[in-house]
Order: sequence, then C-alpha cells, then structure tokens
Amino acid sequence: MGAQQVRDGFTELYGTRPDGVWAAPGRVNLIGEHTDYNDGFVMPFALPHTAVAAVSRRTDGVLRLHSADLDAGVAELSLDELTPESDKAWTAYPAGVVWALREAGHPVTGADVHLASTVASGAGLSSSAAIEVVVALALNDLFDLGLQGWQLARLCQRAENVYVGAPTGIMDQTASACCEAGHALFLDTRDLSQKQIPLDLAAEGLRLLVVDTQVTHAHSGGEYGKRRAGCEKGAALLGVDALRDIAYADLDAALDRLDDEEIRRLVRHVVTEDQRVEQVVALLESGGDTRAVGPVLTAGHASLRDDFKVSCPELDLVVDTALAHGALGARMTGGGFGGSAIVLAEATDVEALTKAVVEAFTAAGLKAPRVFEAVPSAGARRLG
Ligand code: GLA
Repeated sequence: MGAQQVRDGFTELYGTRPDGVWAAPGRVNLIGEHTDYNDGFVMPFALPHTAVAAVSRRTDGVLRLHSADLDAGVAELSLDELTPESDKAWTAYPAGVVWALREAGHPVTGADVHLASTVASGAGLSSSAAIEVVVALALNDLFDLGLQGWQLARLCQRAENVYVGAPTGIMDQTASACCEAGHALFLDTRDLSQKQIPLDLAAEGLRLLVVDTQVTHAHSGGEYGKRRAGCEKGAALLGVDALRDIAYADLDAALDRLDDEEIRRLVRHVVTEDQRVEQVVALLESGGDTRAVGPVLTAGHASLRDDFKVSCPELDLVVDTALAHGALGARMTGGGFGGSAIVLAEATDVEALTKAVVEAFTAAGLKAPRVFEAVPSAGARRLG
C-alpha cells in the first residue's frame, strides 16, 4: 500500500492529517540462520515489501492503534497500563515498542497509529519486525529521540522478547532498520557492527527467488526456544559466553568434549553456519563469480535440516526440487518449521524452476507456494 493511501486512511480514521508517514521492510536472510542468539554472523537483505505507518504524536498518555490489514477496529491503550505479556493480539508489537522506549527512559507521551503492511505474515519474512521498526522510527522522529538504527533495533528486540514474549534474536529488527538498497547486510550480532555488501544479482544474470510455502507448523515458537536453550547449554558446557566464541578450527576439539548428541548437533550447526557466512562474504567481496555462493546456501540447508532440525517436509521439497531443476543453491530462510525458502538460480532457469516447484507441491497434495523475486531493497525510512 502506498504512502498516500495510508495517509488518507489515517485521516479518515482519526479525523486529522498524520504528522508523517514511515516505512520499514521485511527481510530475507541470505545466510547465517539461528546464529543471531549465539552472538554470531548473519547476512540478511531488505525486501521491497514494507509495513507503512501514518503516525501523529499525542501528549495525553494515550496510544491508539489501527491496522488496515485486519478487521479489528481501533485499539485504545493507556501508556501507564502497558504490561509485558498481557496482550496476545497484533497490537502487542507496536505497543511493545512504546513500552520499550518508555522503559529505556525515552519521553514518548502517546501516539495515533494507522498501519498497513505488504509483508506476508507467518512467511518467515519478518512481518513483526517491520511493524516494530516502523513504529520505533516514527516515534524516534516525532519525539526527537535521536536514536540510530541499531539502537532502535535493540529496543524493538526488547519489545519482542519481553513485551510480546518471543525469545528471538536481533537479526530481523536490525535488517529492517539498517539494510540498504542493492546490498546485503553483514552483521556481527555481538556488537551490531555492520558492513554493507553490494549484491547485484541481475548484473550477473542471476535471480534470488523467495518461495513461501504458506505453511506454519504450530509448534514453531516452542521449538525455537528449545533450540536457543540448547545452544546456551552448549556454550556453558564449553565454557564460552556464546557459541560464536568457538572458532571453526576448534570445532572438532569442542565436539569431542560434548557427550550429549543433541547438543553436539546444535553446536556443529552454529559454528559451521558462522563459517558459511564468512565464506559468502569473502566470495561476494572478492568480486568473483557469485554462482559459487549457491553450494554454500545448500550446505546451510543440510545443516539446518540434519543438525539443527528446524526444516520441514515442505521446505525440503522446495530445496530438493529447485536443485533437481538447475538451481545453483537453495535453503530455508528465517526460523524454519514452515515459512519460506530461497533459491539462487540463473535468470534463464527461473520459469522452468518455478513451474517444477509448483508442480511438486501440487503432486504432494499441497497448496501451491507463492514465488517471487527478491531484490535487495531499502531499509526503514520516512516517506513524508
Ligand atoms: C527468526 C528470529 C531471528 C533469527 C531467525 C533464525 O527469524 O526472529 O532472530 O533467530 O529466526 O535465524
């Protein structure tokens, strides 16, 4: 939905013009999965799909929230009554951001918010982070908070971890806040240091497809938390702050020190995945053939499927079918247990490959996946 439409929606709803309109994108992650809560490396880029918010400042301690995408009316909340984990509706994301800002001492005194998003929800493309970041950016501007993108990302993660109650890492919010068009973001999640890596696939005759399986397995939240707890246990057993501290060269020695087979698998995934991120960065920065990234993506999928065990039959079907029809590489992206996979392919193979994936889903009795091309797009910004 365009800025003007969201602006008009606000005016219709609240009877005045908004103070401004902001946008924040969803993301896909090229490589570096389940590494962010291990202080490791990730490499997401922003999608052209965004959450757009028209927002006005209030000074009376009231927060009004409305989504054009849901038939839920306007929610009116009192800032003094915002309580972590009390809200199970969509409003927990924007309200959580207001809560996190105020809890950190920022003088946010209320707002009217009207939102509309083109980021598919439940597709593993960070629709929640887009909502959090767009609200945080709007309030940052309207209340002159002077916070930078990475600081907004940290506050949004706190909103999600504490207010919403989901134990996610920092990747999605940082991607939404800090990505730049034409680049992937190489992010060290320990200190949030960043490097923008140019990524122009079209110039090399390549495409990156997102295949949204449109399935979400119900237990995904709990399984995510279990993986995170397992990684933390692994780090404790190995005497390090986070698994990021195990160097790839020391992996075998570290695995020898672990008896528990499940913990060994988790540790192996995280340490090899960090190494894969560094490999992809080196390949892209060397200016060589980007096609060489393909096998690294595929190796990442195997590790997520076999070691980390967060894939599912639908994601495996996308990856296997794409590879059987000429893809250069493919893997699940995001948390897993449904959601989306990415496929790196020659531009000339895209049509046949897409057809093959859709046919494989139909043959398996599944709803056809949604397939679209992902082009590295802009991060969060003010639209007007
Ligand atoms: C979800 C979380 C992220 C990250 C990924 C897996 O998207 O929100 O923080 O952990 O899963 O890489």
